[in-house]
Amino acid sequence: MPIVLGIESSCDETAAALVRDDRTILAQRIASQDEAHRPYGGVVPEIAARAHAERLAPLIEAVMAEAGLGFGDLDAIAATAGPGLIGGVMVGLVSAKALAMASDKPLIAVNHLEGHALSPRLADPSLKSPYLLLLVSGGHCQILLVEGVGRYRRLATTIDDALGEAFDKTAKILGLGFPGGPAVERAALEGNPKAVPLPRPLLGSAEPHFSFAGLKSAVLRAKQAEVHADPDIAAAFQQAAIDCVIDRTRKALSTIAKPNALVVAGGVAANKAVRAALEKLAGEHGLPFVAPPLALCTDNAAMIAWAGQERLALPGFTADPFDFVARPRWPLDPDAAPVRGAGVKA
Ligand code: KG4
Ligand code: ZN
Repeated sequence: MPIVLGIESSCDETAAALVRDDRTILAQRIASQDEAHRPYGGVVPEIAARAHAERLAPLIEAVMAEAGLGFGDLDAIAATAGPGLIGGVMVGLVSAKALAMASDKPLIAVNHLEGHALSPRLADPSLKSPYLLLLVSGGHCQILLVEGVGRYRRLATTIDDALGEAFDKTAKILGLGFPGGPAVERAALEGNPKAVPLPRPLLGSAEPHFSFAGLKSAVLRAKQAEVHADPDIAAAFQQAAIDCVIDRTRKALSTIAKPNALVVAGGVAANKAVRAALEKLAGEHGLPFVAPPLALCTDNAAMIAWAGQERLALPGFTADPFDFVARPRWPLDPDAAPVRGAGVKA
């Protein structure tokens, strides 16, 4: 049974994993850099790249040892080749190239977003395309129709901030620490979402996209007003964000033929309130709801190894060349129409 080594280093998690084609995760390790970035309240690219360079090789050694495998036992080496913080992506991709070259194995350059997009299939063998995917992380906020491996139709994206970014900025405004998403979710449990009126940008708009910048500014103004309790602001923010997500997902569903499932992936998929709202929406549309286990939602290498497996299984598979260049931007759907507004994420 084919075994793929996956490497992830596009943001602030350094990770390596070995995944077999029967979906068994033979070994996986993740080194989080939260401590290194915490003093700055966000990921510092230079610190991230140095940390990946220090940690990746020992992590790869550790997963190989844990699975009792040598590089000769592998069938391919897959690494995130973008989009992401370029210094980190280069560390992972160059390491994968060196290992592939030295062990004479195929290199698979994986789009990090494809890793997230296919991760639900690693967790759930019954999930078949086409499925509607809400991909919500710190860097990305998209609704994609997954039509097959390598075939993605982007139905919506954000015109400014990603959803995870909005959670992180809200946490920063409220002084809740880093990483922000889980801290906002915890604070929201103690608050009343109706206590603070916040906007729902683009709710009901004809265009399909997301926008969170106005919501973030409103959170800042609510904090500066000094009349609201922080948990109430957190709860109101989370509810406003969820209302936007549900509205946009409902709109996307109205523009396509009935998919096989509604799926959520990416770091924000770890949020229980977001999951519950999406599960309800799926139920209203008679769709199964699929969300990978939390460890597969946030950045990890098992999803990169699995994307490698999916590529390896395609008829006519070809390895990527050793001159494959790391990409800071790499849209999953190159044909998607550009959206208005600046600072659009890949
Ligand atoms: O997928 P991921 O690990 O990295 C990127 O590719 O961006 O996502 C990280 C993002 C961060 O913005 C983090 O605050 C958010 O996911 N996140 C959450 C939760 N857990 C992580 N947002 C809301 N609620 C959570 N429980
Ligand atoms: Zn990610």
